[in-house]
Amino acid sequence: MTRMDLLMTNAGIVETIANHIRELAPNSIVIVVTNPLDVMTYVAWKVTGFPRERVMGQAGVLDSIRMRYFVALELGVSVKDVQAMVLGSHGDQMVPLPRYTTVAGVPITELLPPDTIERINDRTRKAGTEIVNLLKIGSAYYAPGAAVVEMVEAIVRDKKRLMPCSVLLKGEYGLSDVFIGVPIILGKNGVEKIVELKLTEEELKALHQSAEEVRKGIADYEAEKAKAAAS
Ligand code: LAC
Repeated sequence: MTRMDLLMTNAGIVETIANHIRELAPNSIVIVVTNPLDVMTYVAWKVTGFPRERVMGQAGVLDSIRMRYFVALELGVSVKDVQAMVLGSHGDQMVPLPRYTTVAGVPITELLPPDTIERINDRTRKAGTEIVNLLKIGSAYYAPGAAVVEMVEAIVRDKKRLMPCSVLLKGEYGLSDVFIGVPIILGKNGVEKIVELKLTEEELKALHQSAEEVRKGIADYEAEKAKAAAS
């Protein structure tokens, strides 16, 4: 299948489900876990017509958990003491943030040399592929499942947790009309706040590049829809 085939096939499935959600559960909060993640979250948001607070994509929690594990492996410390922050799209352009990745509060930039950090960043970006290659058939299930549970618990128990999730930006980080992973506060109302971290020029550039990839996906999807409507 080409990437476009995957995009349109999954978009069709997400559209069907989103239509049912709109009719049957109009007050619900939607967490999308379908690839290409950020574009599928856009599709769910558009079809449900829900406010942006109630439609989000799960990726950053999963990607950050993986990065935490790789840091813990490298340093020989408990994964419990590692916090990580991964922003951007769920794909090759995801943006791990070592400055905001810490071991009991100490940034890993103080603990590891730059080439090791780059290796961790790279493994984090490709961790989905690593799992798929190990499994041979299928996709990652357990880690995305566990990540969704964390998000659902944050909502159901109104925990106000700070987590990276794919949300619709309206000017935050200098981006608009695109779904992309950024830190949010997650509580009973869904996306309760979008947290704007101070990013370096380089980090912001990486986030914008990542958003460009999602924008292309959204444009491809809209173009296919327009073509289908015209024929
Ligand atoms: C992952 C892929 C499947 O990150 O998106 O697990």
